[in-house]
Amino acid sequence: MAHIILVTSFKGGVGKSTVSANLALKLARLGQKVLLCDLDFDLGTLDLITGCEDRMLFDVCDAVYGRRDVEDCAVTFPSVPGLYLLGAPFRCTDEIVPEDFAEKLSAICEPYDYAVLDTPGADSVTVAVGARCADSAIVVATHNPTSLRGAEKTAQRLRDVDLPCRLVINNFDAVSVSEDKRTGMISMIDATKTPLLGVVPYDRTLMFAQEKGVLADGDSFPSSKAFENIAQRLIAEKTGGRPVPVLSGVIGRKRKKVLTK
Ligand SMILES: Nc1ncnc2c1ncn2[C@@H]1O[C@H](COP(=O)(O)OP(=O)(O)OP(=O)(O)O)[C@@H](O)[C@H]1O
Ligand SMILES: [Mg+2]
Repeated sequence: MAHIILVTSFKGGVGKSTVSANLALKLARLGQKVLLCDLDFDLGTLDLITGCEDRMLFDVCDAVYGRRDVEDCAVTFPSVPGLYLLGAPFRCTDEIVPEDFAEKLSAICEPYDYAVLDTPGADSVTVAVGARCADSAIVVATHNPTSLRGAEKTAQRLRDVDLPCRLVINNFDAVSVSEDKRTGMISMIDATKTPLLGVVPYDRTLMFAQEKGVLADGDSFPSSKAFENIAQRLIAEKTGGRPVPVLSGVIGRKRKKVLTK
């Protein structure tokens, strides 16, 4: 049965789509069958981020409302076996009823090991859909106080509907934290009142690659190991394996200083 993960924050631009796409990639690289699904209707970006916009002929609404077979709608990636993308409609003309949409989307997710649902940066109807489908949520936040407040509110809202959530700190800048210029990890966990699942460093290589539709696949990306560790932790939870420690490979020399702030 699929484990469905909602990736969200009511704050825009914090890296939800980046985390969704690269987490899905790493889950697939670790041998899982993964459905990456774009619930950011009207402004979806996962086709761009994964470099398949020319091949995405149908979208998640076509699949959910049965206008096309799921196989026709899900884009595959020859270089990443096991990864499938259901993109967002360019312009959504369907009336979305969360209960109904969630039930149909859950059924679509069933044959996969994992489904990763990316959402818009607002409290929208598709977040309500995702919250109904999901088994757990990842709330994404950066150092920025507005993103931390957004993450706190998002996590609170999800806990109110009994959805367990964990924090992924994105764009983490260990050097600035060690120089007292930015909020440290402990303060971010406190501010969001949300347990930590993983930390993704600020990665300029990824930022530029993403503009060309390339994911963080390989050692040339400082964030690659961080995404892999998050994927490994999720798999370990499902299979009872041993998870990678949360700070493994992310902090390096600055570890102690960053951790204590
Ligand atoms: N770890 C990172 N290092 C460097 N740049 C990053 C990182 N994560 C995200 N970015 C960049 O930040 C920008 C916003 O990322 P992204 O589109 O994933 O955010 P989002 O939360 O999905 O935004 P929206 O709310 O608009 O959907 C992009 O240009 C992306 O390349
Ligand atoms: Mg996005």
